[in-house]
Amino acid sequence: MSTQRALVVPAEGQPFKFVSDWPIPKPGPKDVLVKLVSIALNPADWRLELGGSGIFKDYPIAGGLDGSGAIEEVGSEVTHLAKGDKVLFEGWFVPGRGTFQEYALSPAAYVAKIPDNISFDRAATVPMCLATVFSSTWAHEDGARSARLTPPWEEGGKTKYAGDVAFIVGGSSSVGQYAIQGARLQGYAAIIATSSLKHQEFLKSLGATHIIDRNLPPGEIQAQVRTFAAGKPITYVYDAIGERDGQRLSYELLADGGAFVTVQPFFHEYLEDLVTESKPVIRALGSFELPGHGKLGLEVYSRLSEWLATGVIVPNRAEVVPGGFAGIPGGLERLRKGEVSGVKLVVHAAETP
Ligand SMILES: NC(=O)c1ccc[n+]([C@@H]2O[C@H](COP(=O)([O-])OP(=O)(O)OC[C@H]3O[C@@H](n4cnc5c(N)ncnc54)[C@H](OP(=O)(O)O)[C@@H]3O)[C@@H](O)[C@H]2O)c1
Repeated sequence: MSTQRALVVPAEGQPFKFVSDWPIPKPGPKDVLVKLVSIALNPADWRLELGGSGIFKDYPIAGGLDGSGAIEEVGSEVTHLAKGDKVLFEGWFVPGRGTFQEYALSPAAYVAKIPDNISFDRAATVPMCLATVFSSTWAHEDGARSARLTPPWEEGGKTKYAGDVAFIVGGSSSVGQYAIQGARLQGYAAIIATSSLKHQEFLKSLGATHIIDRNLPPGEIQAQVRTFAAGKPITYVYDAIGERDGQRLSYELLADGGAFVTVQPFFHEYLEDLVTESKPVIRALGSFELPGHGKLGLEVYSRLSEWLATGVIVPNRAEVVPGGFAGIPGGLERLRKGEVSGVKLVVHAAETP
């Protein structure tokens, strides 16, 4: 068998198209080929369809950045994984790597075995958004787009932030849920997040200490953050949404010397009256395969199965969209319209008609 079914963008700016004669990629020596079970959807997938980013050049291209499944084949140099292992991995918009295919490649170094307590659906929600938060917070190598905080497994990483406060904009988003958990691992005195209040208990179970209604006016949100911070400095802001007003209100709250990480471009023009070199802005990029992120990625992936098995990291809750690949365009439309709240949409490859 050399071809498979896949959902591809045929050319820049064109909508996804279902194809049944897409080549099954061959693993290189350090790769694995995974037979997809669950595929999680991300806003980047509908942005791929829009085109215009200049980042994705290899059209036609299969979409999909998150997946879980069973290893079908291992490359000649891969010794720690075997055919049949249940794994999760991050896709990428390069040939062979998108997860909107029945079979996709991953570098074996960035594959984690799924422990028995985690379903394929929830496992598929982990890789991309976890990489986004952890790389932009902890990566230390040259070229890293990162706040360069000390990771929790390094000396001081669990104690040096104990007098500080973390503020997460958009705690219920997929990214925000991992930002809360990363902050919890670092031992902040308080972890304050904005969200719809219906997610309050769940976000507190992940480590948030205070939830503020995201629909309040910015001034009211700021006042509540200051009250909950109780005079301690807010030295870490994770903006998991990337909207203008959220950036303004959270950048204003950040203490001098603190780090501001955002998932979307920073609104420099709108915020130029505030911006100062003493409060650096980091634009997150969600991959361990980018310059400066690789070593951190190895550190994370060497711990990820254990973290999931023991509840140190809790995956997003998953909502299954029926129809396999045929369900993806409708799911992406819901994401684009902001109709998804506190869950990650996943599809099952095997349900594809
Ligand atoms: N730079 C990167 O590499 C990278 C990587 C991943 C994602 N992203 C970007 O990060 C953003 C989030 O992605 P995601 O996958 O985490 O999204 P998501 O889970 O689909 O986000 C939906 C959630 O966002 C919350 N939300 C929406 N607007 C909000 C606001 N103004 N304030 C607070 N919460 C708000 C909603 O909250 P409620 O339900 O509480 O109303 C909902 O739960 C997207 O723009 C995405 O493109 C960037």
